[in-house]
Amino acid sequence: MLAGKRILIVIGGGIAAYKVLEVIRRLKERGAEVRVILTRSGKEFVTPMTVGALSGQKVFSDLFDPTEEQDIGHIVLSRDTDLVLVAPATANLIARMANGIADELATASLLAAAAPIIICPAMNQRMWAHPATQRNAAQLAADGVRFIGPAEGRMAERGEAGVGRLSEPMEIVASVEAFFAEGERAKLLAGRHVLVTSGPTIEPIDPVRFITNRSSGKQGHAIAAAAARAGARVTLISGPVSIPDPLGVSIVRVETAREMLDAVFAALPADVAVMAAAVSDWRPSEVAAEKIKKAAGDPPPLSFVENPDILAMLGHDRQRPKLVVGFAAETTDVEANAARKLAAKGADYIVANDVSPDSGVFGGDRNNVHILSAAGVSTWPTLSKDEVAERLIALIAEQLG
Ligand code: CTP
Repeated sequence: MLAGKRILIVIGGGIAAYKVLEVIRRLKERGAEVRVILTRSGKEFVTPMTVGALSGQKVFSDLFDPTEEQDIGHIVLSRDTDLVLVAPATANLIARMANGIADELATASLLAAAAPIIICPAMNQRMWAHPATQRNAAQLAADGVRFIGPAEGRMAERGEAGVGRLSEPMEIVASVEAFFAEGERAKLLAGRHVLVTSGPTIEPIDPVRFITNRSSGKQGHAIAAAAARAGARVTLISGPVSIPDPLGVSIVRVETAREMLDAVFAALPADVAVMAAAVSDWRPSEVAAEKIKKAAGDPPPLSFVENPDILAMLGHDRQRPKLVVGFAAETTDVEANAARKLAAKGADYIVANDVSPDSGVFGGDRNNVHILSAAGVSTWPTLSKDEVAERLIALIAEQLG
């Protein structure tokens, strides 16, 4: 996973600096190319000799070392790198970074860095909790710097404990791997337009009443978010839901099935459509212009007309996206019913789930799905809706090639 990744580590002057030696070793083991800059005070805690032996590279420290600057200056150091990792990031180093201070090679390189920066704060818990440090950390976060930790636990000072410890070396390594994995994922659907429908639709009866269903929108929103993380341009067409908007998608809010239909066709062309919405099959034949009054006598009769089937229309349209994925919400004969929908609606895939009340799927956080396609059925284990979304996006990316 880390093969060939160029990681620049800045070691700050904190008691936890020795733990970074283990980080260097593990990153190297995984194939990363590690270069290290020691801050002036970092040198007080670990020696350039040890660090150099572990990283297998010359260790840098002085901004005005004439041989270093000719050889490989701070600009080059920070340019030819895929990630800058600052560990331990002391309160002082965080303060200098937050204020753009370039008073030594380490800070000058951080200021010149084009690569993403991850910092691993480590300091006494009172220094971490201090408003000045919190302000500086918030500034760095706003500047796009990522954080690993700090962790909670005992401090170097006897009898002191709290939040401020350097994260464990293996945790830092895992986070670095996750960072690069995320980067890989972000290329999966780059340049693609993905259309997702989500949530229920509501169909008015009169100005104050409507009929709807129990869809929460969690699965559809998770798919939209996963597609965005995979680098796609995402249009999410959502019925009324009470969950937050996913990051990085453009949302079109609708209420009725017919509004959803219009929004779907207005969003074309798309490479992929995932129709996760629980569209109302019917709507009241007439919408009363005024609130229906509780007049004496019988309750008012309700009659319905069928809504357009958005998935079926899209599946058979000449603007049909290359890949069309439908859902099937079933309470009985899940696979047989889903197979019928696959054929009838012109979908490439149907994600079938059991939505009977004891399955806990509608409104819940987990899902147990069967994926139907011309190639057959595969049943996934019970997963969180986020995991179902990740897997589905991976399947879609693979299918698009
Ligand atoms: N769907 C749609 N428009 C509709 C009804 C359903 O686009 N008017 C889509 C859903 O978004 C889903 C798929 O069709 O992707 C299947 O929805 P589902 O409610 O399971 O099936 P229905 O077609 O409504 O069939 P039934 O109610 O008989 O189960």
